[in-house]
Amino acid sequence: MKIALASDHAGFELKERIKEFLTDHQVIDFGPVNLDSMDYPDTGFKSAEAVSNGDCERGILICGSGLGMSIVANKVPGIRAALCQTKQFAELSRRHNDSNILILSGRFISEYLAKEIMDVWFNTEFEGGRHQKRLDKISDYEKEK
Ligand code: RB5
Repeated sequence: MKIALASDHAGFELKERIKEFLTDHQVIDFGPVNLDSMDYPDTGFKSAEAVSNGDCERGILICGSGLGMSIVANKVPGIRAALCQTKQFAELSRRHNDSNILILSGRFISEYLAKEIMDVWFNTEFEGGRHQKRLDKISDYEKEK
């Protein structure tokens, strides 16, 4: 799977570690390239747009809390970004919400938990059915705007 990966300075170290876990995927790194302070919208919008326009199938975005990246990614049409602090949230975000971007918090979860969350997220399918109807309402809203 082609994955858009991005962070800010607060997520940089986890981003670099995550690349080592993603050997089964083609990773496009949208930055940053070092720990210098930067603004999460700069990498967040570019990577979320790559998922929105189909260049990448899914994305993983990381900032300190995960909150800023969530706000940014969910502004981009077609993005269903889910901030997941637990494996259960990762599973539900795929089963019920068909999340196409996983948001991780660089300052609040361990690398080990991040890897577990990613494993669940990559290996859980969307259930469709009644959940598809709900996602259709979200995309209808986007189309009306
Ligand atoms: C950076 O200090 C921090 O504000 C950012 O990484 C993120 O947590 C924002 O939501």
